[in-house]
Amino acid sequence: MYKHQLHQYISNLLLEQNLDVIGKDNNFYNRFLTNINSIEALFNELYEQHPQSPELFDQVLTHIINAYLERSCILKQKDMLKLEKLNWFLSNEITGMSLYVDRFCGTLQGLQGKINYLKNLGVNLLHLMPLFQSPEGESDGGYAVSNFREVDTRFGSLNDLKELTETLQKEDMYLMLDIVLNHTSHQHEWATKAKSGNKEYQDFFYMYPDRNIPDEFEKNMPEIFPEAAPGNFTWNEDCGKWVMTVFHNYQWDLNYTNPKVFAAMLENIFFYANLGVDILRIDAPAFIWKEKGTSCQNLPKAHTILKLIKQCVQTATPGMALLGEAIVAPNEIMKYFGTDAYIARECDFAYNATHMALQWDMLATGDTRIMLAAQHELLKKPFGTTWITYTRCHDDIGLGYDDWMIEKAGFNPYEHRKFLKEYYSGILTSSPAKGALFSVNPKTQDARISGSLASLCGLEKAIEQNNDWGIKEAIDKIVLMQAHSFFIGGVPMIFYGDEVGYTNDYSYLQDNSRFYDNRWMHRPVINWEKNKKIEIQDSIEQRIFEATRKLIALRKKLVQFSDYKNIVWISPHNIHVAGFIRTSIQKNLYCFFNFQNKTSFITWYAFKENGEKNSQLFDHWSEEKFIVGADNEYFTMAPYSFCIMEEC
Ligand code: GLC
Repeated sequence: MYKHQLHQYISNLLLEQNLDVIGKDNNFYNRFLTNINSIEALFNELYEQHPQSPELFDQVLTHIINAYLERSCILKQKDMLKLEKLNWFLSNEITGMSLYVDRFCGTLQGLQGKINYLKNLGVNLLHLMPLFQSPEGESDGGYAVSNFREVDTRFGSLNDLKELTETLQKEDMYLMLDIVLNHTSHQHEWATKAKSGNKEYQDFFYMYPDRNIPDEFEKNMPEIFPEAAPGNFTWNEDCGKWVMTVFHNYQWDLNYTNPKVFAAMLENIFFYANLGVDILRIDAPAFIWKEKGTSCQNLPKAHTILKLIKQCVQTATPGMALLGEAIVAPNEIMKYFGTDAYIARECDFAYNATHMALQWDMLATGDTRIMLAAQHELLKKPFGTTWITYTRCHDDIGLGYDDWMIEKAGFNPYEHRKFLKEYYSGILTSSPAKGALFSVNPKTQDARISGSLASLCGLEKAIEQNNDWGIKEAIDKIVLMQAHSFFIGGVPMIFYGDEVGYTNDYSYLQDNSRFYDNRWMHRPVINWEKNKKIEIQDSIEQRIFEATRKLIALRKKLVQFSDYKNIVWISPHNIHVAGFIRTSIQKNLYCFFNFQNKTSFITWYAFKENGEKNSQLFDHWSEEKFIVGADNEYFTMAPYSFCIMEEC
């Protein structure tokens, strides 16, 4: 329906601000009018019944206008360039690295000195792990924020961050930061006021005088950190109330049924947008809406909030893409890209957490069938959206894909997951992997896996045993894992340290604020003497770094790796080999990955099964040419090897 009055209202608001709606601000004006119906409808879906709904809707509109007014000319120009490119983030030319500034290089200023190292590797997107104020010792790696606008002095200052963003802009690099949307630290100003009895701020959180409502909630809410933080509520002595704390007891869940919370957090989102953030990682979006009688995860209104954020951002600061960090079941992950009228209008990115875990599954079993079963779901990703693809990140590896996928491949889900947990945690002594179980739930026996890419691939054990052959195999596995995640579609996000093979760091066990959280074993402190070994021919560091560098360069060179929904899985001619085609109107790329520790054979028919007439192929990885044989002849793949073939 055309809403004349609403459009008139917006026009007047903009004119009051002296915006030039038919001149230089015309694009903004058009975006506003295009999105305002959705913004109003989504806001009403959440808050129509709230007594202060009209004034808070006005506040949201004001935040949108202010965000645009405060946006620098450079960022507005970048917005336009990105809009002209049509979904700039689908490009094959972006490769990211996720890093903790303090553990990587000390401070934000120090990071300026590492830009060359990153560029040399080929990285042009930096995900800086949370930088904003967070209490030492109660920080969850920065995900317990006590001030969304002040950089923690550990890293430097807001000014240092601004200088860094300028450098990144000059170097044509992108920036990704987090907004921790679901909760604040219990030391955030809102929480402190709530503790002191301020009713307005108590309404920012879920707070109850007795156990009645918390017990109701607990009936259906799973525990996220059952070992370190059992239960979902924490007693606060200061105000004599139970507070909802889904993650750690010092992380207080924000109450988004209160529109004031939404408006305040939207302002913070715009603050990040105007710092020059290119991709905003929305932390833990699955949890942002709670209702008794539900698991309080992935609820429809959590999606409404995200859609509303997306329409607001698209209006005022359209160059900032949104990444929903939803590490949930595959069919639930897909919904973060938007559904129905909002398909491709919610989050632009999601983590391909399912595929990440399935890569670890394939590596342990040498069998690709469960991974293939999952593709029915993963291929539903809408055009115009993309994945963050990865092998490791700062979090654990959860085996959250569906039981039916495991059953379809002929395995028993319970036994299968038990095997994987034992394989990667070192319980299975014959396994080359060295990791640990994370967040074991004593009631359900559920557990996830911690450990660095290198250690889980066997490098730590092989080095301990001085086993050159084991070291070679581990490096092959590391490169195979990275290659598969680089070429599957989406923006690859390397975890810092993995580019040179950092193994587990056990020093967290001696640290009082960290010993209870074994995710710290795979969050290394970079030793730049070790990283310098990338210059020493045949060192472990050099072999891994050069391979990673080559993978990035290949991806940048081959436009077929852009994410235009151009992946077709090849029939499983050999269950040990994952094979897909990245299609293009020019030449297809045939990507095969051997996940077993033995030689594998692929019929040459695999390169022709879609009617192609390939006679000679060039492998971009080994740089060798191959004559395509008859259908009853085979292409041979060494253990843990891969190829990227193109007709030549
Ligand atoms: C996200 C982060 C994780 C953190 C949690 C709570 O899942 O990735 O590290 O513990 O949110 O903020």
